Amino acid sequence: MTGLGTRPQWVMGPGEAAAYVREARLQQSVAWRLAGLWRSTMANRLCPGARLDLGGGAGALAMALVQQGCPPLEVVDRSASLLSLAPGLPVRLWDLEWGLPVAGPALLASSFALHWLAQPLEHLGQWCQALRPGGQLLLAVPTSGSFTSWRQASHQAGVPWTGQPLPSAQGLQAVISSQLQLHHCCLLHLNQYWPSALAFFHHLKRLGLAAGSGEQLSPSALRRLSRCWPKHSQGDVAVEWEVLTVVGEKVVS
Ligand SMILES: C[S@@+](CC[C@H](N)C(=O)[O-])C[C@H]1O[C@@H](n2cnc3c(N)ncnc32)[C@H](O)[C@@H]1O
Repeated sequence: MTGLGTRPQWVMGPGEAAAYVREARLQQSVAWRLAGLWRSTMANRLCPGARLDLGGGAGALAMALVQQGCPPLEVVDRSASLLSLAPGLPVRLWDLEWGLPVAGPALLASSFALHWLAQPLEHLGQWCQALRPGGQLLLAVPTSGSFTSWRQASHQAGVPWTGQPLPSAQGLQAVISSQLQLHHCCLLHLNQYWPSALAFFHHLKRLGLAAGSGEQLSPSALRRLSRCWPKHSQGDVAVEWEVLTVVGEKVVS
C-alpha cells in the first residue's frame, strides 16, 4: 500500500492490465477525441521522424491516431503487461523518468500519462524541447480541478483526500505555450456517476490506482466520506474530471 502523501506507483500484472483496458472508458473516449483533433488540425503536415505514444499503455491513443490516418506510432510504456495488449503496434519498454527514448521526434502523443511522472512540468518542457522543427505534440492530462465533490466530501468528513496529486492546467499551458504554437488548447469537464463512493474506489483499483482507491481509509472514515459526498439523482455520487487537451506544433524557425 502506498503511504498518504507519497506519489502512487503504476504497477500491473497481466490480469490487472486486461482489467485496465476494460475499465478505461473515459481514457478511451479522450484518446478518440484527441485523435479527431489531430486529424482536423495537423494531419496534413506530419513531418518524417519518430512518432511515440508516451505512457501509451495498451495503445489506445496510438490506435485511435492510426484509425485517423496517422502512420503507426511506437507505444512507449514501463508496463510490459500493458504493452503486450497493444495489438499490431511497435512497442518499447521504457521508463519515462529516464527522459525520452529518441532524439528529435516528429510526433509526441500522450494521454493520461504525464501526471504519473514525478515532475510533470519538467518532463513536458523536455518533450516540447525535443521535438524537431515542425514536430507535433498531442496531449491529454487530468488536472488539479478534478474531483471537486470528492475533495469537498473529504473536507466535510474530516478525512484525508487520498487522490493522486495532479498538475495545474495553467502550469502545463505555460510550459507548452512558451515553446509551441497551439492549434487547440481546451479544458474538458467530464462527469462520471457511480452508485456509491465505494463503487468509484473499486473502479480506481481496477484501473490500477490502489493509492487513490480509499484503501488507506479506515472503514469508519470511508463511511463518513460516503455520507458527505454530494448525491445526485437516484443517490449517485458524481466524480468530476478536468482534462487539459492540447494540440501544438513546434514552429520552424
Ligand atoms: C492511465 S494509464 C494511460 C494509458 C493510455 N495512455 C490510455 O490512455 O489508456 C497511465 C500509463 O502511464 C504509464 N506510466 C506511468 N508511469 C510511467 C513511466 N514512468 N514511464 C513509462 N510509462 C509510465 C503506465 O504504465 C500506464 O500505461
